[in-house]
Amino acid sequence: MNYNKKTVLDVDVKGKKVLLRCDFNVPMSKDGSCAITDDKRIVAALPTIRYLLENGAAVIACSHLGKPVPSFDKFVKKGLEKGKALEKLTESAWKKSLAELSLKPVAERLSQLLGQDVIMAADVVGEDAQTKAAALQPGQIMLLENTRYENGETKNDPDFVKSMAALADLYVSDAFGAVHRAHASTCGVADLLPAVSGFLIQKELEIIGGALAAPKRPLVAILGGSKVSSKIGVINNLLELADTIIIGGGMAYTFSAAQGGKVGDSLLESDWMEYSREMMAKAEAKGVKLLLPVDTVIADKFAPDANSRIVAAGEIPDGWQGLDIGPKTVELYCSAVADAGTVIWNGPMGVFEFPAFAKGTEAVAEALSKTDAITIIGGGDSAAAVQQLGYADRMTHISTGGGASLEFMEGKELPGVSCLLDK
Ligand code: 3PG
Repeated sequence: MNYNKKTVLDVDVKGKKVLLRCDFNVPMSKDGSCAITDDKRIVAALPTIRYLLENGAAVIACSHLGKPVPSFDKFVKKGLEKGKALEKLTESAWKKSLAELSLKPVAERLSQLLGQDVIMAADVVGEDAQTKAAALQPGQIMLLENTRYENGETKNDPDFVKSMAALADLYVSDAFGAVHRAHASTCGVADLLPAVSGFLIQKELEIIGGALAAPKRPLVAILGGSKVSSKIGVINNLLELADTIIIGGGMAYTFSAAQGGKVGDSLLESDWMEYSREMMAKAEAKGVKLLLPVDTVIADKFAPDANSRIVAAGEIPDGWQGLDIGPKTVELYCSAVADAGTVIWNGPMGVFEFPAFAKGTEAVAEALSKTDAITIIGGGDSAAAVQQLGYADRMTHISTGGGASLEFMEGKELPGVSCLLDK
């Protein structure tokens, strides 16, 4: 895949109506107040927005937020599948669920950050969006409603694509977090409008792409999280690129079981044991160091107040489950990080939302904050851990994309990048 894409610097934006796809899929508080709990993705879009506004463009920003169900019929069907009572699946419940995923709070936050008014459209491509887009002046910004309110968005429907493209003269994508989605607003519109990237996508491609293509060696990849099955593509691809792969989190128990270890009641994907064995053999054949836990912190239940103790990896008694890497493993992993030229980290080492089982993740985050290596944090949980621990500004790069950065590391084609004009 070619990542050398035209950016906003390669086109004339003056006097243009620019459809700017951002990833404003930000976390919101679950108490019904719809307060944004983390505005990093909005902040990350500011350089491109400011550039466009300062250079005479009229900006029509758009994004998805969450997974709204765009039709009432589907809302009922999905609700029933989830076991909800039919009488609760009313039209007003559906409308409430949509309203909770309105981008209005994003418009407000964006307006505060920019220090200027952000005009909010009541719809995506309807009358209100069309009228406001037509009246928009250079230096002004508006935000369309949640693109997933429209059925055509995730289907990349040609009619919806046409309506979106009709609002603007130029398409700029800065939604790195959504480039793995082949949706109307992430790639469909690029068929109808000249399409370039913003500064955020450019930065993500340069840093993550650079680390994969020509890393400062040794390249150490730390992979955690609960399931081997969700990291297969990444492990496969990184076995071709990395010098060392470190495995932590729940998925380590499948590797341990594959080696004949006892994992007690730990998370185990028995269907993936054979695959884990193949990966260990492949690593050995390729001369890639595959580091697995040598000890583990076990608990007598999955709970923050569980009784815990430390045992050697592969020696977990029945009735107990591994919830974190042990101190010897921490030492081993941290010394690999200290000697690295580049570190890529995706996925926590244990159940870090329980303080008693967060030590492994904390220690790895601390080791990354101290190393001279280039440090790249995939989005999601590892990004949250680094942020929570206050190490964010000591990392070279924290990706704004969870799924997107994972697919990038898998070496997969990213539709939201492929659709942009080549340099
Ligand atoms: C993300 O949060 O990873 C992106 O915004 C993509 O969201 P999605 O998984 O709902 O497509």
